[in-house]
Amino acid sequence: MAKITVLPKHVAIIMDGNGRWAKQRHLPRLKGHEEGVENIVSVVECLGEYGVRYVTLYGFSTENWNRPRSEVRGLLKLLRETIDKKVSQFHKRGVKLYHLGRLEGLSQDIKSAINRALELTKNNDKMTLSFALNYGGRVEILDAIRRLIAEGVPPQKIDEGLFRRYLYTTDLPDVDLVIRTGGELRTSNFLVWQAAYSEYYFTPVLWPDFDEKEVEKALLSYSQRQRRFGGLGSERQNGG
Ligand code: IPE
Ligand code: IPE
Ligand code: MG
Repeated sequence: MAKITVLPKHVAIIMDGNGRWAKQRHLPRLKGHEEGVENIVSVVECLGEYGVRYVTLYGFSTENWNRPRSEVRGLLKLLRETIDKKVSQFHKRGVKLYHLGRLEGLSQDIKSAINRALELTKNNDKMTLSFALNYGGRVEILDAIRRLIAEGVPPQKIDEGLFRRYLYTTDLPDVDLVIRTGGELRTSNFLVWQAAYSEYYFTPVLWPDFDEKEVEKALLSYSQRQRRFGGLGSERQNGG
């Protein structure tokens, strides 16, 4: 392993490029998604070996409903099967699973799979792995505002510390590093609040091809950055 001197505590990944991976091989897009979900466990394990404690994966966005029905159905089925198939493997490794997003809108079988996974792993503490499914950063902020209003929280009590607890991420730390595979240079509505001060790593490598070597490159890139948080950089680095 390379010399990674500063490690991000929380890494979030926009797993993009499955469709193009399949297209390059003249395969159906769903085949690309299959390869993509297959890649999840090895990348998460690799991050765990480096010592990353929080990993968040963007699996399905609120905007992904705009895709053809057959793709949406196939993709969600794959994600559900992955949660079911891999949950005991994650559990054995002490991984606590989390869901970020709106449960309503997801089918009953996915909701049940998510709830089973959360329940089984709730006392684990080696790593927290969050799946963003039916997740949208703007909707997350709206949901938080709705709850604050519904609970009658007085406006003067609403500061950043309180507000963050109303987000799906509640007590997860801010994201230090966002990785986006697949070459697009955008955030696509991912962790709008939590990644406000993150470092970004964009790579053209398509998600199914994003392997241990690529993880190392991303962590190395992070390790060489200087985070300043609006200051001059000497007083607080890499999240303090
Ligand atoms: C990422 O791959 C997976 C999801 C968005 C769910 P894409 O399906 O977006 O792949 P491309 O961007 O078309 O290559
Ligand atoms: C972002 O990828 C969402 C996920 C990876 C789940 P998209 O492929 O949906 O993003 P856009 O549409 O190119 O912005
Ligand atoms: Mg895409």
